[in-house]
Amino acid sequence: MVAFLLFLMAFGLGMVPFGLYVARFVKGIDPRDAGSRNVGATNVARLCGTPWGVLTLALDLLKGFIPCALAVGAETGWLALSLIGLAAILGHAYSPMLNFRGGKAVATTVGVFLALAPVALILAAICTLGVIWLSGYVSVGSLTLALTLPFFCLLTGNIGMIPLALAVMLFLFWRHRENILRLDRGEEMPWRKGKEEEG
Ligand code: G3P
Repeated sequence: MVAFLLFLMAFGLGMVPFGLYVARFVKGIDPRDAGSRNVGATNVARLCGTPWGVLTLALDLLKGFIPCALAVGAETGWLALSLIGLAAILGHAYSPMLNFRGGKAVATTVGVFLALAPVALILAAICTLGVIWLSGYVSVGSLTLALTLPFFCLLTGNIGMIPLALAVMLFLFWRHRENILRLDRGEEMPWRKGKEEEG
């Protein structure tokens, strides 16, 4: 029963489009109409400035972290933990508040794994930040996060979270398919370009 309530809570929180609210509040714009047309933190940073992107990142992260941290406290077991994490991610990506569209769910994934597999997440996040710094592309960093999470879950002995990490890896690649095509065409907007335009 607790697990089911947390599952509902995860989807309910996940579907709240904080990026849309932040961009509307700051600049009166809809992030779905500009930049990459994504409601996530990267596009909010691109359109409104880095601090607002960071705020969106934090809010989207909490959507995954809060229900999963509560589920860890309630000792619901690995399957329920995985389904609760998945509910937050899918709530964000297919939000009923956005006609079942939504973001790419990277920040929410970070929140989910911060609660469910914190050491693996921190190791994957270090790789992610390094790749963003070296490549200049947030999307390449996000794909690095997706690829390294299952490996670090295995490395840290968090075996129960490996199925979720593998499912999320495939899902994040699917959600980044347009980014991958833009990268292939050399048309992806580098993170630093966004920063230069912001200044
Ligand atoms: O987390 C989303 C990021 O990987 C890509 O965002 O706006 O460049 O498509 P965006």
